[in-house]
Amino acid sequence: MAEVSGSTTPSSRQGDQRRARFDWAGLRADLRGAVPDASLALVVTGLLYWLLYVRVENGSSATVKIMPMLADADEFWMYWMCQAFGWSAMLWAYITVIFGLLRSGPRPRWGWLPAARLEKWHRTTSLTTIGLTFMHAFFFFTDQIRDNQTRWSFGRSVWTAFVDVWVPGGYATGTGRVAILIGLLAFYLAIPLGLAFYLRHRTGSRLWLALHRFVIVVYVLSIWHTLLFSSQAWYDGSFRTLLWVLQIPLAALLLIRLMAPARPGERLRARGPGRREHALPVGARVAGRLAAAATVVGLVTVVVTGVDGGRSPDAGSLAPWPEKWVIWVGLLLFTLAVVAVVLRLRPRATAASRPATPAEGRAEESADLA
Ligand code: HEM
Repeated sequence: MAEVSGSTTPSSRQGDQRRARFDWAGLRADLRGAVPDASLALVVTGLLYWLLYVRVENGSSATVKIMPMLADADEFWMYWMCQAFGWSAMLWAYITVIFGLLRSGPRPRWGWLPAARLEKWHRTTSLTTIGLTFMHAFFFFTDQIRDNQTRWSFGRSVWTAFVDVWVPGGYATGTGRVAILIGLLAFYLAIPLGLAFYLRHRTGSRLWLALHRFVIVVYVLSIWHTLLFSSQAWYDGSFRTLLWVLQIPLAALLLIRLMAPARPGERLRARGPGRREHALPVGARVAGRLAAAATVVGLVTVVVTGVDGGRSPDAGSLAPWPEKWVIWVGLLLFTLAVVAVVLRLRPRATAASRPATPAEGRAEESADLA
């Protein structure tokens, strides 16, 4: 294997520049590709907004039952927008995770859904999810400014809303002090873990794929945030149960994806050629499968027993669990795991270890999947 020599030719310099760059062209193409599903997401958000608005008007709003001061549908429109974008973000997150798991697991044999189309849909719906989440938090931000202005100057209102909404740990009261922290971590983690794809020519396909696997944590944080904070699912009841039930197929799909991965290198083989090349040690891959199986069992148990964290209208408000420090410790452990993977898989500085061009990179990924 030849080492890269000190002297570089113009074409190898161009290749290096291409590798070092963020794949803006790829991102632009995917953003263009996301226009249809983002448009559909906006239509869905509009319908959800209308539903939330009508329920406030006719007195059946779950939110108003918990927060009677929000009973004016017109005055609090930004809050309904926040809620509507929250639900469309959650729906799109669900859909994009399904596409991703189908793409990297035992792919469906339907002719109309080849792997390339699944992957494209996964990429576009995940970009749309990030956009919807931003809009969800943005409308919360604008609503907070509105609320703050009933007490303070414009400058102080904007600053306080900024800290409360965009700074992790900034929101200091009620269930939101935990739920908003979890939501913000989901949002902020989605950006690097999702967009690492566009750095794959620099990181090498093994590293970005390994980093991308951590993205499931974003979904877990999102649904956790929803179950903790949603005023529609605040109390025990059929809607809250439905949210839990919907997680079962997703967890089952994750388990199937881990048991029957599309990439031969991810199958459980402790022996045989190439075993040293695996991105994850066998122990970690066994642990992943056990965790997914335990999640399926745990979800079924929650649904069957009905012990799903819902509140009762008769009981007083419960302190949110866990405390914030538990989440910070979790984030620290998560970061250490990501750093360990980066150190283990970072590309060597040899010409052979990285694809020279995007086209070669794609060929390498396809070979990986063959
Ligand atoms: C991936 C990230 C996120 C997802 C998928 C998500 C999704 C949701 C969903 C589905 C709800 C329930 C809405 C309802 O009950 O009507 C919700 C509630 C809420 N979220 Fe998020 N969220 C995320 C991040 C954030 C962030 C970053 C913030 C603010 C910084 C935030 C603020 C809120 C607020 C204030 C509520 C309460 C709305 C209510 O009264 O029900 N969320 N979120």
